[in-house]
Amino acid sequence: LRIAALISGSGSNLQALLDAIEARHLPGVEIALVISNKANAFGLQRALKHKVPALYLPWRTREEWERRVIDLLQLFQVDVIVLAGFMRIISADFITRYPERIINLHPALIPDGGKGDTYTTSDGSLIPVFRGMHAPLQALEAGVRVTGSTVHYVVPEVDAGPPICRREVPIEAGDTEDTLQERIKKVEHQLIVEAVKIHQQRV
Ligand code: GRF
Repeated sequence: LRIAALISGSGSNLQALLDAIEARHLPGVEIALVISNKANAFGLQRALKHKVPALYLPWRTREEWERRVIDLLQLFQVDVIVLAGFMRIISADFITRYPERIINLHPALIPDGGKGDTYTTSDGSLIPVFRGMHAPLQALEAGVRVTGSTVHYVVPEVDAGPPICRREVPIEAGDTEDTLQERIKKVEHQLIVEAVKIHQQRV
């Protein structure tokens, strides 16, 4: 299974995959290519350190960017795309080219099937589905006691595709956006590896 990771920043989830591969926890999985829309994304350095091809592709227009990515995906014979902290919206055209071949990490709980505005947590409480860029902050502001992270297939609707796996993360008294985000990220580092394993077994 050849993965392309699209990133915009730190790339700690990319690191989790690189480490799992190095530790032989993901036999048959390889990061074929890392592409960033930001020149200074630290994830590019993480990739190069592991001798993974990494490139910065400046974002001029969405259309041009996606066209170049599609060429690269073919060139590098990529099977699946992981959006690992990729901060741009990709077009419906691009997404429909790769049905159930684009995986995203979202720092909130997304219900089965991916759609709907509520999620039932394991203790039976009904919480809103926090979509978009500031999901951990939204969870804090809503005053819920539990949020989480979901790895899901990407569909044209944002943060709405069918989950591959997900986990609840408790919100603790005194949490700030930063502390909550950190707790979620620790969980994500395990979830992304799990999701790639599940996907690999499906295809
Ligand atoms: C993660 O929290 C993910 O849920 C969100 O962006 C963050 C990426 O972090 N989509 P990193 O770049 O992998 O450290």
